Amino acid sequence: MGKEHSTGKKNRLPGENQLTAAVLNLKGKQALITGGNSGIGFGIANALATAGATVVIIGRNGRKNELALKTLKGINNSCYALRFDLSRIEKIAEFYKDAEKEYGTFDILVNCAGTTIRKRADRITLREWEKVIGLNLTSTFILTREWAKSLIKKNAAGTCIIILSLMSEVARPTTAAYGASKAALRQLVRSLAVDWAKFNIRVNGISPGYIKTELTEPLYNDPEFSKWVRQRTPLGRWGKPDDIGPVAVFLCSDEASFITGHTIFVDGGFLATI
Ligand SMILES: NC(=O)c1ccc[n+]([C@@H]2O[C@H](COP(=O)([O-])OP(=O)(O)OC[C@H]3O[C@@H](n4cnc5c(N)ncnc54)[C@H](OP(=O)(O)O)[C@@H]3O)[C@@H](O)[C@H]2O)c1
Repeated sequence: MGKEHSTGKKNRLPGENQLTAAVLNLKGKQALITGGNSGIGFGIANALATAGATVVIIGRNGRKNELALKTLKGINNSCYALRFDLSRIEKIAEFYKDAEKEYGTFDILVNCAGTTIRKRADRITLREWEKVIGLNLTSTFILTREWAKSLIKKNAAGTCIIILSLMSEVARPTTAAYGASKAALRQLVRSLAVDWAKFNIRVNGISPGYIKTELTEPLYNDPEFSKWVRQRTPLGRWGKPDDIGPVAVFLCSDEASFITGHTIFVDGGFLATI
């Protein structure tokens, strides 16, 4: 599948066995990435910048933003960071408007910021439930809605990625609020894709397996759990943020222009086995 194919300039005939290497290129595209200062979001920011995109990351922690930006600017000098707490849901519309005023249109939106509270279901308080659902689900919807509203108004195309989890599909103890938020996001991917396809806005999910990040540090540092992850994952290891970045580049590229409403599991085979 080559550039010609993806732009539709020249359709290859069936049986015309002329494969050209796909060169994934995001030059001229601008991406907004929540949670882009660490872990999976940073892996995605790195990969998108390497593919030529201008990247604007969002995080609450100024120091983490600065550190991430230092690396990103080494790849592409046109990368920026914004400090914002996405759990301030009523402020998201205003925040997004300001971000667009400052940086212009975002062709790509990656929703990666997320949190969890690991507790048995009967011990989760309403406040804790709302914290997880608020950040993971509601803030993702509101930010994505604002992004799409702006693109639709400008008659511009766009592509959005939402980071889900194995917990959108299966459960393990202490994941009730987190799993509920991620399963809802999985359906949101489909609903948004269907609503906005006619505007040339694509929405897809990436569902990572167990990836070594700040969020999973308590799990990784538990030798028994860590061993269980390695044994339970057919490819026999924890994932890295760099395992996710290239998949995001593909989904954002023109080579994926016929893919919307789907979720790719990047999980080392975790869901394929019992
Ligand atoms: N690691 C895994 O195994 C795994 C597996 C499946 C899915 N995921 C998902 O991947 C996503 C990223 O997680 P991660 O593992 O990469 O963890 P991480 O390294 O802790 O990253 C979390 C990111 O979210 C940002 N963030 C958190 N709360 C925020 C808020 N209220 N407002 C704005 N930004 C906020 C953090 O930046 P600040 O601290 O600066 O705000 C940070 O950049 C999450 O959605 C998580 O559910 C992770």
